[in-house]
Amino acid sequence: MKALVATGYMRLDQIAIAEVPTPAPGPGQVLIKVEAAALNPLDLALITGAVKDMYPADHPLVVGMDAAGTVAGVGEGVSGYAQGDPVLAFTGQAGAVAEYTVASPGPLLARRPEGLDSLHAAGIPESGLTAVCLLRAVRLAAGESVLVVGATGGIGLYAVQLAHALGSRVIATATADDEEYLRGLGAGGTVDYKTAEVVEETLRLVPGGVDVVVDLVNSGERLTDTARAARPGGRLVSPLFGPGDLGRGVSPVYIGSFQAEPGDLADLAARVADGRLRVEIGARFGFENAVQAVVDFAGKHIRGKVVITTS
Ligand SMILES: NC(=O)c1ccc[n+]([C@@H]2O[C@H](COP(=O)([O-])OP(=O)(O)OC[C@H]3O[C@@H](n4cnc5c(N)ncnc54)[C@H](OP(=O)(O)O)[C@@H]3O)[C@@H](O)[C@H]2O)c1
Repeated sequence: MKALVATGYMRLDQIAIAEVPTPAPGPGQVLIKVEAAALNPLDLALITGAVKDMYPADHPLVVGMDAAGTVAGVGEGVSGYAQGDPVLAFTGQAGAVAEYTVASPGPLLARRPEGLDSLHAAGIPESGLTAVCLLRAVRLAAGESVLVVGATGGIGLYAVQLAHALGSRVIATATADDEEYLRGLGAGGTVDYKTAEVVEETLRLVPGGVDVVVDLVNSGERLTDTARAARPGGRLVSPLFGPGDLGRGVSPVYIGSFQAEPGDLADLAARVADGRLRVEIGARFGFENAVQAVVDFAGKHIRGKVVITTS
């Protein structure tokens, strides 16, 4: 089969579409005929080796971890899925930008409901599940205020919508071009991260500070600065890592890798299918332009997800 492959750690523009063996579904796995795949920052870091100490890549690496398509076969012992079922999945290093991939029934594989096409389904797994995981970990509640830093990206757009759906007052970072879009998703206020000082502007909008900061951009000591946007005794949650003490009694919650619970992916898919949740496809590429998709994802401002259609 054809797949987008890195044969070793390399520059993003050195990856290529190549022939690799079609995976066979092992016991407890389903084979998916991929129709669309989405990119995430971890894909870029796996290609270049930027995170090789924490996440070593198995080479040849098939790029991508978010896939949507239909079940093409099932391994021994699989029940609940059959050939032809429309699905979406987080594939891990099985790879998603390929004609076929494999995934295991469980929290990281779900059926695509009627009304959810592969293009949009591919944009859900990693970003959507991470957003769910972050808001759950920080126990965001109705009536609380929340600042989402990095709101225009993959996780951020889901975090804004899910926080709004919970009944929270959402402040989102966005440049002027994206401000109206973010308000349409439920942001009550926006802060331009290119022209304004995010913490000071947030404190102007919410005097005393927000209950919760969701920071999808900063890590390390820089989180101490973002934490100033939280009220004393507030919470900060990040998918990256930072200090244990953020000052002023602000509690940090760091999520090293997202943990999906059973039903999370199906719930996200259902929300998208019935219109409660929007998947923003910021850029769409055909399989033949998959290398360019990776290069653009790394270098350009793209609102939401970059999706590659593979068939
Ligand atoms: N721990 C986990 O399980 C886990 C899971 C998934 C992702 N992650 C990590 O979470 C982070 C976010 O992931 P993602 O998929 O949402 O990334 P993404 O799609 O690249 O989105 C990042 C967004 O942040 C914006 N941004 C950049 N600098 C900013 C700033 N100073 N202030 C406000 N916004 C800014 C970007 O806009 P521009 O285009 O203008 O730069 C972009 O819209 C990444 O570091 C990723 O590796 C962790």
